[in-house]
Amino acid sequence: MKYGHFDDANKEYVITNPQTPFPWINYLGNEDFFGLVSNTAGGYAFYKDAKFRRLTRYRYNNIPMDNGGRYFYIKDEDTIWSPGWKPVKTPLDKYECRHGLSYSKITGVKNGVSAESTFFIPLKTWAEVHHLKLTNDSDSVKKLKLFSFMEWCLWNAEDDQNNLQRNLNTGEVEVEGSTIYHKTEYKERRNHYAFYSVNTPINGYDTNRESFVGLYNELSGPQAVLDGKPHNSEAHGWSPVASHYIEVELQPGEAKDFIFVLGYVENPEEDKWESKGVINKKPALAIQQKFDTAEKVENALAELKSYWENLLSIINLESKDDKLNRMVNIWNQYQCMVTFNMSRSASFFEVGIGRGMGFRDSNQDLIGFVHQVPERARERIIDIASTQFPDGGCYHQYQPLTKRGNDAIGGGFNDDPLWLILGTVSYIKETGDFSILDEMVPFDNDESIAQSLFDHLTISFNHVIKNLGPNGLPLIGRADWNDCLNLNCFSTNPNESFQTTENNTKGSKAESVMIAGLFVVYGTDYVELCEKLGKTDEAARAKSEVNKMAEAVKSKGWDGEWFLRAYDFYGNKVGSDENEEGKIFIESQGWCTMAGIGKDEGMCEKSLDAVKERLDCEYGIVLNNPAFTRYVVEYGEISTYPKGYKENAGIFCHNNPWIMIGETRIGRGDRAWEYYQKICPAYLEEISDLHRTEPYVYAQMIAGKDAYIPGEAKNSWLTGTAAWNFYAITQFILGVRPEYEGLLVDPCLPKAMEEYQFTRKFRGATYKINIVNGERGHGVKALSINGNKVDGNLIPLQKAGGVYQVEVIMY
Ligand code: BGC
Ligand code: NOJ
Repeated sequence: MKYGHFDDANKEYVITNPQTPFPWINYLGNEDFFGLVSNTAGGYAFYKDAKFRRLTRYRYNNIPMDNGGRYFYIKDEDTIWSPGWKPVKTPLDKYECRHGLSYSKITGVKNGVSAESTFFIPLKTWAEVHHLKLTNDSDSVKKLKLFSFMEWCLWNAEDDQNNLQRNLNTGEVEVEGSTIYHKTEYKERRNHYAFYSVNTPINGYDTNRESFVGLYNELSGPQAVLDGKPHNSEAHGWSPVASHYIEVELQPGEAKDFIFVLGYVENPEEDKWESKGVINKKPALAIQQKFDTAEKVENALAELKSYWENLLSIINLESKDDKLNRMVNIWNQYQCMVTFNMSRSASFFEVGIGRGMGFRDSNQDLIGFVHQVPERARERIIDIASTQFPDGGCYHQYQPLTKRGNDAIGGGFNDDPLWLILGTVSYIKETGDFSILDEMVPFDNDESIAQSLFDHLTISFNHVIKNLGPNGLPLIGRADWNDCLNLNCFSTNPNESFQTTENNTKGSKAESVMIAGLFVVYGTDYVELCEKLGKTDEAARAKSEVNKMAEAVKSKGWDGEWFLRAYDFYGNKVGSDENEEGKIFIESQGWCTMAGIGKDEGMCEKSLDAVKERLDCEYGIVLNNPAFTRYVVEYGEISTYPKGYKENAGIFCHNNPWIMIGETRIGRGDRAWEYYQKICPAYLEEISDLHRTEPYVYAQMIAGKDAYIPGEAKNSWLTGTAAWNFYAITQFILGVRPEYEGLLVDPCLPKAMEEYQFTRKFRGATYKINIVNGERGHGVKALSINGNKVDGNLIPLQKAGGVYQVEVIMY
């Protein structure tokens, strides 16, 4: 069953039934200021950091779902309704939510009145604009009472929920004209305030939640709205809110625009005050002025649209498959930007207070984003690398506001350092900017011990080989990519975190075959980079380490039919046919086949056949099989999840593309394509009622074949799945890959795909690549640029500014 449809021409998903199987959300903002908005206008806003600088309140996992947002109430005689259906839930005559690229437009129609609300964050602006257009389509005069409503968060979203003994006393507001200012803690240690304004005179307001809502009312029926009049309340402590009250008269056919602005201001210490106790509002008024007419707002929205047009013109596919086109050209790229911006911090599944930016997560996010805004990718790489420790280990996470490593989680995840090689190499291949390697980058944010970024890569590489276990394979530490395979944790106390507890490390033999595969892939990238830089000795040294690792995998990491997953604390095999449960895992099959380990001996093919046989199912490839049905203390969190969910045999979408890429390495395009389609949201739109999360973005997890309800997804939006799938489809299946010297064309296609055009802007030139498939679907037979034949399958760099027609014929 569907709840809407794609509108590709407008790059929107159009929801026509507000009761989606889960709130279907969108993200506003692209730089410093962000908001989440659901299809019923739920969600919240924050500046840079969803934990430390939260502007508005939101209640997670609530009853009903999705409570709190930017709400409008319209009282038309005795009928009260909201344009987004919620919170009032009065049935609408028409409802539509268009989630577009960084904006959402929600329209409700009731009793001849249409309310169209457009939410977006203009470029380079620390504010959300909420443009509400009311139109009277009836033939009588309408006298409407309009109320806005939003609840302020007292900045630190975690403290806001915990520290009520203080927080119920600190809230402070000011009202001037049509603007409500939230200045809580401004007089002491904060240099920032927030405001909610509207571009028209108001007839009243409320700033104290209880006055507006009523102590025992719900958001579906606030007292002020029921009464049809506000209380002009001034919040002192308790819960400050912002609600405007406007009386609107509309003649038949008449329309009026109301522009609300939810903004954020920082003032320098010496400019904080206008007069004693009165905040300096100049910067706020300046923002309001920029968006005080419908025309200005429409221009800002048009700028945002052209910003996206531009970003999406860098990679563009024209194929006969609409679903594929819309994923590659619109939604997958959009999700890559969002994951780059948010990492895993703020979604409807991540409450924005638990995790900042992940070291491994952010590095991986780069592979789907680096072509969009390379300068931002560059800055991110330096920020990430600055949280590395001098020995090559890494803080697992850092907070975006402070850019400091997060002490609470610390380090010890032994895959982390290698992802920095991936991030950096992807950036250089995209841009050709080798100068990033000379940047001096601190360790643990300590400038006095800065070394070049290249040194950081060397130290990352060495971190692996300095931490090898008894089989010559990398020690796993707290965990590798799979946060839930905690081989040194041994926790029996439910109050301990699996991520940070290591009750058993002395003499541990826990090694990871996945990190071994990862090391062969990114170690090889490191070797190639050294060669490019003319560091031949270092390249030779690194090469021999990579070879040693590949040999160690072949002799100690092979189970006979597939790659082992790990060795546990005691040195016992994990992911072996010998095990009763968890005989085979996806991660090591993915990484070892991507690395091509044992390819000549047939290991890659066998490994991938075992994946097909044991891990694949109708909805994707599960993480392990058989699922764990009992708690295995020496394995940790993985065995805590019920079977079929999350890391215990869920379809963890992030690692499915590793198998797709592995398949392309042995030329099996049909297989890779089958796996691609299975988890790709646009292909799942028809089963939205089962899948439940948005049909336009990937979810982290789809319940696996052992689950109670296979096929049901969770944790949409913020997942490495976005970047990896984009990377797999564009660079390995459709096969256009940036390399140091040009664009490599190396598709591995399903037989049914006949032909497509792939446009790629790369280092200043535009390549229009026309690819015609052959019998085999793999291997380039002929390639020409503007009619001139080129040997091999690399498009060498052409002069910037030019447009080049490339014809590719495949075997
Ligand atoms: C989740 C993982 C996540 C980890 C760290 C676990 O509970 O299952 O997916 O990476 O927590 O937050
Ligand atoms: C989500 C985490 O953000 C990521 O770092 C991890 O690799 C996966 N879960 C798998 O555990």
